[in-house]
Amino acid sequence: MKKTLLAAGLAVLMILPAGAAMRRKPKAFTHETVEVPAIEAEIIAISAGNSSLILLADEDRLLYTLHYGSKVADPQEYKGYRTARFTENGNLNYTYPSTGGEFVGVPALHVRYADGNHNTDLRYQSHKTTRSGNVETTEIFLKDYVTLLEVKLIYEAYQKENVLIEHSVITNPGKEPVELLDYASGSMYIEADNYLLTHFHGAWAHEMQVEREMLGYDTKVIESLRGVQATQSQNPSFMLSLNTREFSETGGEVVAGALQWSGNFRLSFTRNESGRVNVLGGISPFASAYPLKKGESFETPGMIWTWSADGAGGASRNLHRWARNYGIYNGGSVNPTLLNSWEGAYFSFTTKTLTDMIDDAASMGLEMFVLDDGWFGNAYPRNGDAAGLGDWQLNTSKIPEGIDYVASYAHDKGLKFGIWIEPEMVNPASELALAHPEWIVQSPGRENYQIRNQWVLDLANPAVQDFIYGVFDSVMQMSPSIDYVKWDCNRIIESFYSNYLSKEQDRFYVDYVQGFYSVMRRIREKYPSVIVQCCSSGGGRVDYGALRYFNEVWTSDDTDAEIRVHVQYATSLIYPACIMGCHVSDVPNHQTRNVTPLKFRFDVACAGRLGMELQPKNLNEAERALADRCITSYKQYRDLVFAGDLYRLASPEDGPWYALMYVSQGKDRAVVFTYSTAFQVRDTGGQPFRLQGLDPARKYKVTELNVDSSCWWGSGRSFSGSFLAGGGFNPVIRHKYDSAIFLLEAE
Ligand code: GLA
Repeated sequence: MKKTLLAAGLAVLMILPAGAAMRRKPKAFTHETVEVPAIEAEIIAISAGNSSLILLADEDRLLYTLHYGSKVADPQEYKGYRTARFTENGNLNYTYPSTGGEFVGVPALHVRYADGNHNTDLRYQSHKTTRSGNVETTEIFLKDYVTLLEVKLIYEAYQKENVLIEHSVITNPGKEPVELLDYASGSMYIEADNYLLTHFHGAWAHEMQVEREMLGYDTKVIESLRGVQATQSQNPSFMLSLNTREFSETGGEVVAGALQWSGNFRLSFTRNESGRVNVLGGISPFASAYPLKKGESFETPGMIWTWSADGAGGASRNLHRWARNYGIYNGGSVNPTLLNSWEGAYFSFTTKTLTDMIDDAASMGLEMFVLDDGWFGNAYPRNGDAAGLGDWQLNTSKIPEGIDYVASYAHDKGLKFGIWIEPEMVNPASELALAHPEWIVQSPGRENYQIRNQWVLDLANPAVQDFIYGVFDSVMQMSPSIDYVKWDCNRIIESFYSNYLSKEQDRFYVDYVQGFYSVMRRIREKYPSVIVQCCSSGGGRVDYGALRYFNEVWTSDDTDAEIRVHVQYATSLIYPACIMGCHVSDVPNHQTRNVTPLKFRFDVACAGRLGMELQPKNLNEAERALADRCITSYKQYRDLVFAGDLYRLASPEDGPWYALMYVSQGKDRAVVFTYSTAFQVRDTGGQPFRLQGLDPARKYKVTELNVDSSCWWGSGRSFSGSFLAGGGFNPVIRHKYDSAIFLLEAE
């Protein structure tokens, strides 16, 4: 007797040849145990502001993606839609393509069942849409008709921001365990004549380097296998410019994406013979065949998508607005300016060094002092990077008066106080390493390699999660005056092995990240208002997974302003300025030995969250005066940096200038930053930067800040938005490291 899906609470169905279906010729099938009755083809329309995602559940209950892009006024017009492509052999645009059925290609889902079978053929069951304020959520239920494996696709559509977040929940209702071999968060089909991919590679002190390439007819993979510090070599984000070979800030269709995950990830772009591109984003399956026992579910992280018809600038502004409203911890707030002790003192300081720095920070108008590395460890004092990590007790010989003394000193001077920790790591030379060798990620009997003289703690282990939460908690107990924590993470994982997971090592990379998030959730419950910076040897953990718990990131250990121009430009394509920690440091620069003018260093750092990272005593009187002036003026316009709309006017990847501006939501104020990184030998009259985002009819008073004599003839006068957008704004930014900041105020 046939067992039907009806018995499992589902409609009985049978496959009918369906005229409206996308497939070249639907094939009827009869499965021994399950009948699958046909349904009437149904369009599922999801709109996110100005964009639409149109899906089709066809008569055979196969779920296809028909369109992602411009808003479709009447989605029902897609009923009966047929592809114009010559052949669809294997190239089916299933919304969540799985290994099995008629699909051949890079899958979103690939499952190995207990009997060794690799086939999953998902069929649509039902869907529902709910609305809560600005967010419309659509859930689509799919099932494999043989194994009954369930997949729920969840789309959150942010209407005001034009952003769509997709993720899946995979459930094993069967009796036998299964293994998830691939489990992408989401999949998107994009159809264009050609595709220009922009993505970001990097290294320590060189994060977020732009790479642009045309997609060919194959699969392009962007992946990180570093375990932690995943984003220092590749960032889980991209932009695809459509129907063009040129990158444009202002025009043309762009699809951008980013993954909310802080570990191994994979983005793949497959252009098959149909010419269409399928983008998959998710956790990397590398060494991570995730086991699902009977009744267990796996929830994938969110894949963020946005579409814009206004070039890269439009896509960035969509992501930035979404991030400030939803994607960043306290994304709407302004983080304080600060002096960080690292490059000014490194590991060598006494209480007096710190209180002197606090005095200097206060006198320059900075708002916080951050005590970086070096304050802890007694048996193994942290006097360098070879000892002490793991022993989070105050080093009483360095600061005998205690952290509370220094923190209260800062508060008394009107400054907030911050402190550095690196709780996921341990030096072999530490009491912790001796007490808990079983907490260290290391493969039994093998060499455990050190990077920066340290090892990684096994966050897949709940006892280690408790310890790491405890580090944060106990550090916070040292003083009620701690306002800010810099959370660092200074190495990658290799030769992975978790004692806790024992035979289930395939869980390690995923469970580590989930353990990290679980610790951060506990921290945020107890410490909702402490500002936490996400640092990982600089920008090793810059992703929208971590940013749900962190207020800002340390963009790069490279504080050379010329390098920062490139890092900050590229970061801004995906992430808003409010998260970018940008510090003015000493010259010659400690990383590159480059010498740049102090004004240039300030002008670059002022385009993000401004800080300083040097010994203020090394500044002469004129430099101090310039610092005071830059910090004072920054406070006048930083609300624009933190919450304004970003327009990039010139790209440092395409020429010697970088120029950008932030415009208030009401278009009544704006701030423009312009920089030169090379001498403009043929330039005679200054560079016209066509300002964007202004009201063409309004008049704006334009004032260059922090100078006695301006590099623009029009500084101090008022001009219409149309004049400023039309090429009239032409400051002379001609020599290497010339820079200027202009404030625009509507009359
Ligand atoms: C990392 C960080 C730096 C600093 C040092 C301290 O390299 O990125 O900013 O905190 O660690 O050891």
